[in-house]
Amino acid sequence: MIGVFDSGLGGLSVLAAIAETLPHADLVYFADSAHVPYGDKEDVYIRRRMLRIGAYLVDGGCQMIVVACNTATAAAVAAFREAYPAVPVVGVEPGVKPAALASRSGRIAVLATVSTARSQRLAQLIEQHAGSVQVDVEACPGWATRVESLHLDDPAFVEEARRHLEPLLAKGADQIVLGCTHYAFLRPVLAPIVGQRAALVDVSDAVARQCARLAGPVAQGGGQLRLLATAHPERLQAALPALGLNHLSHRLRKPAQLAHA
Ligand code: DGL
Repeated sequence: MIGVFDSGLGGLSVLAAIAETLPHADLVYFADSAHVPYGDKEDVYIRRRMLRIGAYLVDGGCQMIVVACNTATAAAVAAFREAYPAVPVVGVEPGVKPAALASRSGRIAVLATVSTARSQRLAQLIEQHAGSVQVDVEACPGWATRVESLHLDDPAFVEEARRHLEPLLAKGADQIVLGCTHYAFLRPVLAPIVGQRAALVDVSDAVARQCARLAGPVAQGGGQLRLLATAHPERLQAALPALGLNHLSHRLRKPAQLAHA
């Protein structure tokens, strides 16, 4: 069983890619809905949540953990790996490397939560992989919460998204990295603003391929899905069709459940 974890709905974008790449794997999706968003929290808080949820998933039989959250990966994946050295862990990091490789203008932008934007980990990633490409890091407070509300096309939000994107595009960014798993669900808002000027870069498929490399026998199961949330499990389940992931609903054998972690 593979445990996939995020603060809320964002990691469902990663879950969908994993379910497609490993159709027989049994998957557990854990949304820390009682504590979303992580993006405005301190590292120590995120680390505490990650260790607690990781322990819950491992004790519940998960043999592999996917941290489907850039914010938690940056703040806490090292602490989790240290606590559970025998458990394969796959984290999610902004796609700076593929974006830098694909850029023709020599300028890219990373959209991320406040926590990821200020993280050491992102600074290192840029230093290691951006080479001579210029990188603008844009913190987008409130965007993950917008996805949680499922009201994605509110005109006020479309305007806000435009305010963030236009200056980056005007500077010449031709790759816009979606550095938060929630933002994958904002494509319908972001893509029309960006148009032909830039590509939106998302690493879900690369994360799924990394899972496939590490999974071994864990990939063989009944292709079932369990949904767990620390608050409002029914909202998590209802989000599947709302976010265009109804095909995942067919994998459920029982309704989403409340998790006490
Ligand atoms: N989905 C998460 C990420 O990838 C966190 C969003 C949040 O809870 O602020 O960063």
